[in-house]
Parts: sequence; structure tokens; C-alpha cells
Amino acid sequence: MASKDVKKKVFITRAIPSIAVDKLKEHFQVEVNEEDRSLTKKEIIDKSKDADGVLCLLTDNIDEEVIKSCNNVKIFSNYAVGFNNIDVKAASSKGIVVTNTPGVLTDTTAELAWALLFSAARCIVSADKYTREGKFKEWAPKLYLGQEITGKNLGIIGAGRIGQALGNKSAGFNMKILYHNRTRDLNFEKECNAEWVTLEELLKQSDFVSVHVPLTTETRHLLGEKEFKQMKNTAILINTARGPVIDEKALVKALKEGEIWSAGLDVYENEPKIEEELMKLDNVVLLPHIGSATVETRNKMAAMAAENIIEVLQGRPAINPVNNVNLGEKNGL
Ligand code: NAP
Ligand code: GLV
Ligand code: GLV
Repeated sequence: MASKDVKKKVFITRAIPSIAVDKLKEHFQVEVNEEDRSLTKKEIIDKSKDADGVLCLLTDNIDEEVIKSCNNVKIFSNYAVGFNNIDVKAASSKGIVVTNTPGVLTDTTAELAWALLFSAARCIVSADKYTREGKFKEWAPKLYLGQEITGKNLGIIGAGRIGQALGNKSAGFNMKILYHNRTRDLNFEKECNAEWVTLEELLKQSDFVSVHVPLTTETRHLLGEKEFKQMKNTAILINTARGPVIDEKALVKALKEGEIWSAGLDVYENEPKIEEELMKLDNVVLLPHIGSATVETRNKMAAMAAENIIEVLQGRPAINPVNNVNLGEKNGL
């Protein structure tokens, strides 16, 4: 252990798997918010302003005000692959590195998208509730008729790591894969016999539409009233990306009016608030943002988030940077 590291301070905004704390404690002075809740902006500033590194969560709003108040911080290591909760531009202009946790949660999140797809297509949640309520009196010809999955068209909006993993996992279902990115990916097209189409074509042709784009100014409300009208009435929409990619009020209307058949959601426009009308609908499956929530994956994310802090605070380049910052004398490294 280099002696100059001894005094460096790391703040973890909420308890995450202990592997992260253990790794960081080998090098730094570590403080963890042990209360099982996310902190207010003021609390984040108070705790982070003297820290050298901050390990933060997707629920922490690391905006310009927070960044400006953190004069000592060299790295915000986000415990998530999505980093729309951090003002990366403000961080870059202060020479602060921002990192995320790509790859280790790819299969886990794609698996959850599949779980939502199956649940929404076969009315799993409503049917479970019906059974538990003692309503299952006899087999019935029209009970919980769903939508077939095998042989259908799967539309992937944002075929990056997670979107492609979703596509790969469809192999046993003989599906036609359509995808829409800003840039074509010829390897993916070859591997999965996938076809690049415009967003409009994807919406018109797909039986299942799964959203995997990051939340950016470009993707906010990518799907709204007009787009739901372009979709099939039998279509099923899955969102495990970020809530604001979908206009939630327009989605409620589309589900109510039968513009689309059902939906499966892990994320919401004003998380954790959910449109009241959405809560009342039977043709939607609602999950509490658990895309990466497996024991194995959360441990891997924790290790990765800690390793990024160790690298940067010891003067080496981050392993998973999302911005390009020159570490140097300016940061006292
Ligand atoms: P990724 O590898 O960066 O993939 C994102 C894909 O979106 C890329 O293929 C990108 O392709 C495409 N894209 C970006 N902007 C676009 C636009 N304006 N129009 C069309 N396509 C666009 O990211 P990932 O690791 O798969 O993660 C995706 C997102 O999932 C994360 O950002 C996060 O918000 C979310 N997520 C949620 C959970 C959960 O718990 N529910 C878990 C993990 C991740 P081009 O650059 O070619 O456009
Ligand atoms: C979770 O939502 C993530 O972005 O990792
Ligand atoms: C259903 O249970 C069947 O046997 O078709």
C-alpha cells in the first residue's frame, strides 16, 4: 500500500455488496451511508465535498450543483451502467472522471427483459393473482388467452450490449429480429440474422418491442402517442432501459384504448412515482427497477465500481470511463 493513499477518502452513498467496501478499505479511508435509503442532495454534498472518490447510485442526482461543491473529488463511480443521473459535462469540465459498470449486468438485464416479455405475453401475473384468489374453478377455453412468442417478430430499440443479448437469447424461439440503432452493427446482423430498420418500420412490423437505449436528450420520449399508433394492436412493449424514454401518459392511453396489447415495465418516467392509471391496468406488468438484481451481478458491479476508484485514486486510468479526462497534477495525482 502506498503511504500517500492512506489519507484518501472514499464515500459510498448507500450500502452495496461488501466486496466493494472491503476492496476500497485496503487502500482508503471509507465512509458508507448505512441508512437504507438514498440521501438528499444536501446530504450527498455534505458527505462528498471532502472525499477524493464517490461511489454513487443511479438514484443519486449528481448534478452541476453537487459537482461544483465537490472540490476534492476526482471520480464519481456509478453503481450502474446507465449514467444519466450524472451531469457528465459538468464533471468533465472540473476534470472529474465518471465511470459506470458495463457488461457485468448485460445477461442479467436481458434475462429480466425476457421475464417481462413472457409475463406480459402469457398474462402470468394476472393469472397467478386469479389462482391465489381461489377463482380457478375449472379449466376454461378462454381463460387468460395470451400471445404466441415462437416465430414472431422481435423489435430491439437500441441493440447494444443488453439489446443484443436479448436478441441472442431468442435463438430457441425462431424469431425474426429487427433492430434500430443510430449505426448499423454488421456483426449482430450476421450473428442473429437481424435486420436494421427505421424506428417506424420496427414499430409497424414487430410483435414484441423491447427498449434498450440509454436515456439522453435524443431518446427522451422516443416513444409517445404517434409511435404507439404505429404499433400493432397485438404488440407487447417491454422497457428495461429508462422510464423517460417512454411518454408514460401516452402509454396508459395506448394500453387503455387497445392501441397495443400489453406492456412489461421495470422503469418509470418519474421513478419511483408511477402513473396512477398504470397501476390500475391489468395488461401491464410492473417491476421495481430490478434489471440487474441478482446476487452474482450485484457483486460484480460492486467490485467493478470499487476497482475504478482504486485505479483513478492511485493515478492510473479508469477501467470503465464514460468521459475523457486527463488525470494530472491538477488533481494532485
Ligand atoms: P449500450 O451497450 O451502450 O447500448 C445502447 C444502444 O443504444 C447502442 O446500441 C446504441 O447504438 C443505441 N442508441 C443510443 N442512442 C440511440 C438513439 N438515439 N437512437 C437509437 N439507438 C440509440 O448500453 P447497455 O449496456 O446495453 O445498456 C443500455 C441501457 O439499459 C443503459 O443505458 C441503462 O439505462 C439501461 N439499464 C437498465 C437496467 C435495469 O435495471 N432496468 C440495467 C442495466 C441497464 P448507437 O450508438 O449506434 O445508436
Ligand atoms: C441500471 O438501471 C443500470 O443502469 O445499471
Ligand atoms: C391442456 O392442458 C391440454 O392438455 O391441452
